[in-house]
Amino acid sequence: MDFAARITGTGSAFPKKRVTNDSIVQKLSKLGITTSDEWIRERTGICERRISDVEKPEEHNSSLGFSAAQKALEMAGKSPQSIDQIIYATCSPDTPLPSTACWLQHKIGADHAWAMDINAACSGFIYGLVTAEKFIQSGQVKIALVVGGEVLNPILNWEDRNSCILFGDGAGAAVVEQVPSDSSRRILRSHLRSDGNLWDLLCVPAGGSNMEVTPERYAQKLHKLTMKGKEIFKVAVKTMADFALITLKKNQMTTDDLDWFVPHQANLRIIEAVAKRLKFPMEKVLVNVDRYGNTSAATIPTMLDEANRDGRIKSGQTVLLDAFGAGLTYGSILVRW
Ligand code: UT7
Repeated sequence: MDFAARITGTGSAFPKKRVTNDSIVQKLSKLGITTSDEWIRERTGICERRISDVEKPEEHNSSLGFSAAQKALEMAGKSPQSIDQIIYATCSPDTPLPSTACWLQHKIGADHAWAMDINAACSGFIYGLVTAEKFIQSGQVKIALVVGGEVLNPILNWEDRNSCILFGDGAGAAVVEQVPSDSSRRILRSHLRSDGNLWDLLCVPAGGSNMEVTPERYAQKLHKLTMKGKEIFKVAVKTMADFALITLKKNQMTTDDLDWFVPHQANLRIIEAVAKRLKFPMEKVLVNVDRYGNTSAATIPTMLDEANRDGRIKSGQTVLLDAFGAGLTYGSILVRW
């Protein structure tokens, strides 16, 4: 018997604290750095984001993932005990060891699962979904829980106005189940690729095994995120548009066959430029970057959950997910909902 994978439940969770552009303006002005609500809105489309209070265990990355996963399991009508595999996509793990997936397993009580993290930065949820699909197709996994979650706030450099205004915290989850391969509602196609030559466009230089955080490096903020925004912008627009078309073509489809396009939410201008390149109407592009900023691996699953719950995405519709992230990594996946 051949198998396919289907998303049967979604969930999302965000920290309580809303941080408006104006509160960032005030925070940065205390450091002598100028920005404005107008600049942030016009250049990024972001109005506010949520920021975790990391002193509160309930706002740790795996705790947000836990809340999102509970909602997804409830929608799918599944218990934590029924999960075979947990994949946690994140570039801001709770701890270097153990994995955030194991933290989540501990919190949710998925005693029969095996758990692992995937770090593909903002493309992480798509990488996770494709990995779960392959295990499900092989017959080794019947029910997977795929989470994209981030608490990026501790790695942001609040003295870098170019990057700190962009990011937010949150988590989204999907329950992915085995279905017969001839099911109409399933993951249809995907396309993944990365380009490690572009590693320096977005990175956190210190804190890994190749660069310990010494007092000097701490003072230089080498343990914080650094980004070449303009360069990423250009690569992102071209690659996301290319990947969307490649994945559709693999399934003998064009953008005319799509009901919804769910791009990674990094910047509204990137999203609009991709839609323009694809000649795809913005009315069918799902956007939450205005309210949550760039939550990296969480942007796509949180957006999917919102549109799934409010009834925009309907059963049987065709949805294309498309992302890019640090690495650089790229990925797109076509789903019949
Ligand atoms: O998930 C992947 C994560 N990263 C991304 O997706 C980043 C993609 N890139 C972007 O989103 C955009 O390139 C940014 C939002 C980072 C920057 O927007 P931009 O339109 O490319 O601005 P720019 O870098 O060309 O800068 C224009 C001006 C500069 O001033 P000068 O040199 O023209 O005087 C910047 O210094 O805007 C200045 N600027 C700011 N001004 C006010 C940069 N950041 C700010 C700020 N407030 N926060």
